[in-house]
Amino acid sequence: MAIKTITKYICSECGHVTTTKTGKCPGCNAWGTLEELPEAPKASNALKNSPHVKIISSLDVKAPERISTGIEELDRVLGGGLVPGGVTLIGGQPGIGKSTLLLQAAGSVAKNYNAPVLYISGEESEAQVALRASRINTASEKLFLYSGSGLEDALSNLDREKFSFFVLDSVQAMTIGNETGWPGTISQVRAVAQRVIDCAREKNIPAVMIGHITKDGKIAGPMLLEHMVDTVLNFSGEGYSSYRMLRAVKNRYGSTDELGIFEMQEDGLAPVSDKSGLYWNRDDSAVAGVAMTIALEGNTPLAAEIQTLAARTVFPYPRRTARGIELNRFQLLTAVIDRRCNISTNSHDLYINVAGGLSLQDPSADLPSCAAIASALKNLPLKAGTCWLGEVGLAGEIRPVTRIDLRLKEAARLGFHTAVVSSKEKIKFAGIDTLRVSHIDEALAGLLVKS
Ligand code: TYD
Ligand code: MG
Repeated sequence: MAIKTITKYICSECGHVTTTKTGKCPGCNAWGTLEELPEAPKASNALKNSPHVKIISSLDVKAPERISTGIEELDRVLGGGLVPGGVTLIGGQPGIGKSTLLLQAAGSVAKNYNAPVLYISGEESEAQVALRASRINTASEKLFLYSGSGLEDALSNLDREKFSFFVLDSVQAMTIGNETGWPGTISQVRAVAQRVIDCAREKNIPAVMIGHITKDGKIAGPMLLEHMVDTVLNFSGEGYSSYRMLRAVKNRYGSTDELGIFEMQEDGLAPVSDKSGLYWNRDDSAVAGVAMTIALEGNTPLAAEIQTLAARTVFPYPRRTARGIELNRFQLLTAVIDRRCNISTNSHDLYINVAGGLSLQDPSADLPSCAAIASALKNLPLKAGTCWLGEVGLAGEIRPVTRIDLRLKEAARLGFHTAVVSSKEKIKFAGIDTLRVSHIDEALAGLLVKS
């Protein structure tokens, strides 16, 4: 007996599927939206016949070839350099140094590969870019500048010669002929980005687009923009500091764990290689309330100095102030010290600060914070040359942290001789003495120096 096929209908608004054709969709109540659903092909046939379906293991895999930007920190964040045909979007606050970084990269690709590079500037005049190029000493025979906001006109220059790389500064400043609206409107930004992506793919050269960000830190324009490109980088820094952080938010060609640090100098951005030195002054004079730790920013270990001050309170409710550590976390750790170590905290105002403006999210900062709080309250310094790595639970127990070997290696490199860690930690690295503890009380015993 032949099986009767049932016609199905799908709503073009909400995707609701039904077997009776009605005027109104039962799913979303929209009128006249039901259409006949085409019958799905049988799975086995579809697999055999479709030219687009392939067995993954039969595909030829080659690591993408990379073009070095000549800036090691940038290459590392990109996952090893620029990828031909790949498009990167870099966002950051105005004045952070996006144009400077990309002009430096464009200049060094042009010089190192001796191949033409095009820098398209829709924001600054020729004179402004030229002045900056000479200031950062990046001008070369092969570095070309297009100043103007017509995208088609700018990209047409790429047909003249075989270019090796191009930069678009910025995606919000360009217009594309057949789109209406001011530069920076959603439809313009989308069309400009799509055209840049098509151009990079077609010519098989890497491209970087600079993007403005909105007040809440997102790249201005459609959210789609971040989905369209291969890599999204975020360039940030604190207003008062000359240090700049570069992180990958999305990377189709590498990890998003790397952190690049630069310092803005007179002649452009200089890479910072000793990152731990940034937040740590290496002054070993033992002061009560100071504990050292090695935090992780992605894959980068950074030495951090946690400082606590305890001052006798004049208020009925003692103050708790935190910078660089979440206030709730600080209050919780203070309560742990009070209850589990029998150190009274309620007659003191407590302030905690991570030196250098670093913000620690990592739970490994719990143990050094507790050590700093106890040291401040007892007014006794902690043993010098010691760093603290551990998460602290409500019962006062010390838990292991992630990537302990990487952190210990950095601690040893910086000259620490002892690390206080959880007794449950599995350690391979042997270059530093470890003190294994299972409870906060145990961790503090003997490490507070009696005067
Ligand atoms: P810029 O690259 O124009 O920032 P963005 O493109 O992200 O808006 O950088 C602007 C700031 O950098 C400016 O305030 C001056 C400073 N700067 C230096 O300190 N040294 C330099 O060599 C350069 C080129 C800029
Ligand atoms: Mg700029």
